[in-house]
Amino acid sequence: MKKALTIALVMLVALTSVFANGSAEGTTVVQNSQKPLVFFNRQPSDPVSGEIDMETMNWNDKTYYVGFDAVGGGVVQGQMIVDFLATADPATLDRNGDGVIGYVLCIGDVGHNDSRARTQGIRQALGTWAGSTDPGVSQEGSANVGGTTMPIVELDSRAMTGTDGSTWNANAATDAMGNWATQLGDQIDMVISNNDGMAMGCLQASNYPEGVPVFGYDANADALEAIAAGRLTGTVSQNADAQAAATLQTLRNLLDGLTGADVYTKGFTEPDQWGNQITPEVNYDAENKALLAANEAVTIANVDKLLSGARDEGIKQSEAPVVDVLLTIYNSADNFLSSNYLPALNYYAPLMGINLTVVQGDGQNESSCLDRFTNLANYDAYAINMVKTNSGPDYTSRLQYN
Ligand code: BGC
Repeated sequence: MKKALTIALVMLVALTSVFANGSAEGTTVVQNSQKPLVFFNRQPSDPVSGEIDMETMNWNDKTYYVGFDAVGGGVVQGQMIVDFLATADPATLDRNGDGVIGYVLCIGDVGHNDSRARTQGIRQALGTWAGSTDPGVSQEGSANVGGTTMPIVELDSRAMTGTDGSTWNANAATDAMGNWATQLGDQIDMVISNNDGMAMGCLQASNYPEGVPVFGYDANADALEAIAAGRLTGTVSQNADAQAAATLQTLRNLLDGLTGADVYTKGFTEPDQWGNQITPEVNYDAENKALLAANEAVTIANVDKLLSGARDEGIKQSEAPVVDVLLTIYNSADNFLSSNYLPALNYYAPLMGINLTVVQGDGQNESSCLDRFTNLANYDAYAINMVKTNSGPDYTSRLQYN
């Protein structure tokens, strides 16, 4: 009797581990520390130097980052503005006719790699780069405006932290824009923002100087509509759809037991075993264990292509066994993540056999995510979007002892 009970117990444990473990790794219980861990959108890095936190990235051999080419994106954004200026009419653009093009800049989050790369890309393209991505640090630049070289001046730049301490805050941008319009008046010839949420926030200011060109980043649905309606001048798509699919594909591959180059080629450059393949280009940066989507400038010239909101037809319902993934999002109020990235995750996850449990934080305290980063043994893998880019160890230490 005792023996039978022991056998039954052993079988139960083995069976449980098969389910807790997805399909791939046999019947042994997988420790949380050995499970796939994919960071996305907020690359583990030092908020001051921007240096990648390789200790976190090397947590285990199933740790990856999925994002987009942040530095390349800053260059695309800067070039989009330079291209706009080259065809602009100086007489219309230079509102007070002082011969200087003045712009204001919404930075977003001074400790976020994406934000820093955009600030640098814009300032370098306009010649206002003075060696730092901090607010207020700029020099006089110049650019070709409709055939004439004109001086360019950054009149002001702000991080856009909300009253609650959250970053990339669109309401803070509305307030700042209101103050800028009052204080700087017609010195403002352009408004540049490191994301669409803040750009749209600027447009909300009741005294927004009508007709002044405004640029964002992200290609959120409302921003695309604003471009089509002639209210927003341009944005950059970081291909959130491809990033969301790539986050899921990486988890899928790791849970299917793939290793080495298969992790970042199956489902990317060739179909995975379930027949799925992401259509847009996603490149692998081996040095940083990062899979990166490409960027594309979006203006009135090509907005129609993106407005359709079509999903990637390369991903169809697969027969893959269902796995459970716990996914955190740093701020439920972030425009980009909530209106762009999360809907894509929710669309692709069931097709790829991924059962997502999503927990969302408040954008200020890591604890708002960490407190719900619990019951970890119930999940086969984890996908993390941190409040602070240097919080990687807070998550890995949770996985250490379970
Ligand atoms: C996006 C921002 C967003 C941030 C959140 C960036 O890549 O461009 O809009 O607020 O990610 O981490």
